[in-house]
Parts: sequence; structure tokens; C-alpha cells
Amino acid sequence: MAGVRGAGPLVSEVGAVEKHLALIGFMGAGKSTIGREVAGRTARPFVDTDVEIERLHGPIPQLFERGEPEFRRVEEQVVAEALAGPPSVIALGGGAVLSEKTRERLRAHAFVVQMDVHPDAAWERVRGSDRPLARDEDDFRRLFAERQGVYEETAGAAAADADGTLLAALGIRMGAAAKTLSQGPLTVIADEHVLTLHEPPVEGAMHSVPAGERAKDEAVVGRLWGELELGRDETLLAFGGGSTTDVAGFVAATYLRGVDWIAVPTTLLGQVDAAIGGKTGIDTTRGKNLAGAFHFPRAVVLDQAYLTTLPDAERRAGMAEVVKTGLLAGADVWELPEGEMVRACAAYKAGVVLSDPFERTGRRTILNLGHTFGHALESASGYTVRHGDAVALGLLAALRLSGLDTQVVEKLLRPEPVAADADAAWASLKRDKKGESVFVLLEEPGRPVVTTLPDAAAREALEALIRK
Ligand SMILES: NC(=O)c1ccc[n+]([C@@H]2O[C@H](COP(=O)([O-])OP(=O)(O)OC[C@H]3O[C@@H](n4cnc5c(N)ncnc54)[C@H](O)[C@@H]3O)[C@@H](O)[C@H]2O)c1
Ligand SMILES: [Zn+2]
Repeated sequence: MAGVRGAGPLVSEVGAVEKHLALIGFMGAGKSTIGREVAGRTARPFVDTDVEIERLHGPIPQLFERGEPEFRRVEEQVVAEALAGPPSVIALGGGAVLSEKTRERLRAHAFVVQMDVHPDAAWERVRGSDRPLARDEDDFRRLFAERQGVYEETAGAAAADADGTLLAALGIRMGAAAKTLSQGPLTVIADEHVLTLHEPPVEGAMHSVPAGERAKDEAVVGRLWGELELGRDETLLAFGGGSTTDVAGFVAATYLRGVDWIAVPTTLLGQVDAAIGGKTGIDTTRGKNLAGAFHFPRAVVLDQAYLTTLPDAERRAGMAEVVKTGLLAGADVWELPEGEMVRACAAYKAGVVLSDPFERTGRRTILNLGHTFGHALESASGYTVRHGDAVALGLLAALRLSGLDTQVVEKLLRPEPVAADADAAWASLKRDKKGESVFVLLEEPGRPVVTTLPDAAAREALEALIRK
């Protein structure tokens, strides 16, 4: 499981973080349609190898007439060229993985997802097309069954839609799968309060941390560094809310210069936001999250069962991030049943994260919708205002400044102006922006824009969030 022997795991080994995302599967499985959507959501180039073959060599049926081996040779070449380019989303022709060379190249350069489809659905989609291998239903079904083995053997995960593909690309799974995620022993770092409510997902050496934000502390990290007895090939598992996954992820990033970790978030906020995206860290005496590292968890397990014990205030905090996500995505995700809502939000964040895994291009900035104002309020209140409540107010400001209806935020999050020092809030906001007044606003739901604002407008919007 680990990377270069003795050197600890490589970040790039996690999912498609720094690799191509390759979609394989039988014809009619939706590789092209899903691939195009996933490419759009991850801002990566999209290569459809069949389209590329036709662009270079003319219609596939004609190419096939020269014999399947000739076609496969051309296909192998086209896949190799796509894999030599920048991290892309690549939809491979149904038979491409029959080539041993292609399978080898995929193993080295791509995270491979098999598009799951029922043979009936696949046949419905391709019957009557000019595809050489889709002329006879019996042949089609025989080939379908025959190919499943090689697909399963080549793929690191399976998915049936774009959200599922994005989740798989960051190792995110729905449901109670933590037990099956590691062959070796797991060492658990858990929120001490959560341990009184839920069985940890795996057996293993147990290290508890203080409940909530108090865990994100230098002294806690120091204690864990001292207590842990892991080899480099072993894996940590974080069990708790965003605070626990932040501190445990940071310990995983630093202990022995980095060991693998698995996140099992137990709060709504953790499941839709904090445990996804590879950011780990703790607070310092100067402020929140000021020491940290990018260290992607090998897997994230989103299990709704943990959310049943969540107090209302914590649920509301998570809902603020859900509303943020829905506004960014342009989808009323909050209308969905809880499990689907969590899945949709996690997948949305996964897409944005994959577009800019290490925050180098600024694409992740949109995830700060509502957070610039939110952070200012948190800081100016001396962190007596809860993050979720501050974000709810920040979303209100962002919608107002965008000239959009604020009803969703008001109905779902019921934000109330908070007690905070207005000058301190303004100073904090300017500090957060490092002098530049750049904000995330919305042209409309689903169309975030990063833009500047005149100081006067920003300050007025901020002050409207503060109790007079
Ligand atoms: N790394 C990131 O990208 C990222 C993103 C967003 C937020 N965060 C961080 O996440 C932290 C907030 O995390 P959070 O909101 O998940 O809360 P949390 O981890 O601070 O926990 C809040 C409270 O909920 C309790 N709790 C946790 N799970 C519970 C459960 N299932 N039932 C009952 N009680 C439970 C905890 O014991 C604690 O008292 C902040 O420190 C924030 O900075 C990180
Ligand atoms: Zn947030």
C-alpha cells in the first residue's frame, strides 16, 4: 500500500489527486457522458479515446474492417498519448483494457473507475448503433459477461454516475465500509465524546482527543506523536467531527514524515466538508488553522448512522455548509433525503478539490462562499460565534451582495445578527483578504464568481450581520 519502500506513502497515490482519472467499462456504460461531466467539474481536459481515434484515423467501423488487431494497435497508441499528457479525464473504449500494455500504463498513471451498468441498460443504449460489436444481442451479452473480469481487475473502484466517479476519485465511500479498508492493523484517533456514543468503526490501538475544537492543539499533537507506535506502512483512522479529522490528519501528515490515514467523520459538517479535500491542521495562539499540511486521506467513509446523535446546533452548522454547496452547485441539495444530500455535497466538493488539489490555481477559492464574512465574525467575537452560524450570516451577505433572493438561507439556517465588535470584524476581514477585497459571489445559483468589492459595500454588508 505504501509508496516508495521506506519513504512513506506518496500523496499522489491517493485516488486521482495527481493522476489521470480513467473511465473503463463496456459499451453503453456511459463512459463518454459521465466522463465529459466529470471533466467539466474537475476542470480537467477530457479525452474520449474513440473520438480521438476517429479524429486521427476516420470512422471506427471502417478501421475495424481492417481487422480488430489493427484497431487495437491504434487504440493502444491513442491511450498511451492521452496518458502522457496533463492529468485528464479519459474515457476508454470498451475493449481498450484487453491490452496488457494499456493496463500497465493505467496502473502507473491513472486512477481507474469502472462504469457500472446492467447489460439490459447497456444494450438499450447501443442497439441500432453502428458499433461493430453491437450488432447482435446474444454476441453483445456474451462479450459483456466475458469482459467483466478484466474490468474489475483493472479498476480501483466502480461507479454508476458522475457523483459516484468523483467520490471514488478521492476514495470516498458511503456506508459502513471502514472495516474492509485496510489489510494491516489500524490505529484509531477518536473524539472522546463520540466514543461515549458510538463504537469505533474498527478495533485497534485507541488514542482519544478532547471533544471538538479543543483537539486542534499543539499539546494534543505533541502527546499523539509521543504515544503512537506505528510503522510507516501502518494506517491511522480518524473518528470524530472536523476537529478530529483535522488534528488526526495533521498527525498522519507529520508522524514519520507521513503515514496513511482514513477519515470517518461523525458530524454532518465533517461528512460534507471538513474530511474531504486533504487539508489538515491545528490552531495556534495566533488563530485558527494556522499550522497544517495537505495530506489526503486514503479513504473517507461517510456513514449516516453516526449523525443520529448529533445535537441540533451541530446539525445546523453542517447545514450551513450544505446550503453553501447547493448555492455553488445550483442544486437544491437540501431537499434530498439526508444520505443523498451528504453524497451530493461530498461529490461536489470532491470535484472542486480535484480541479485544484493543492490550492495552486485558485479554483478552490469558490468553496469560501460565505466564509470571508463568516471568518471575520468568528474572529471578532473571539470565536464565541459558531462556525456554522457565522457561515450562515456570511451566505446571507454574499446573496445580498449578489442581488439574489436570500430566502433559502433565511428559511433553512435562520441566521440572527451576532454580537461582535464592528471595527474588529472589519479589521479581521481585511487581514483575511491580505489587503485585497476579493469575494466569492454568485451570478446566480450554480455560477460562482470571484470578484472585488468596494470597501464601502463590503463594510456595509458586514455591519448588517452585527447586532446593534
Ligand atoms: N480541513 C478542512 O478542509 C475543514 C473544512 C471545514 C471545517 N474544518 C474544521 O472542522 C472543525 C469543525 O468540525 P465539526 O463541525 O465537524 O465539529 P467538531 O469536530 O468540532 O465537533 C463538534 C462537537 O460535536 C461532537 N460530535 C461529533 N460527532 C458527534 C456525533 N456523531 N454525535 C454527537 N456529537 C458529536 C463533538 O464531540 C464536539 O463536541 C473546525 O475546526 C473547522 O476548522 C476543516
Ligand atoms: Zn466552513
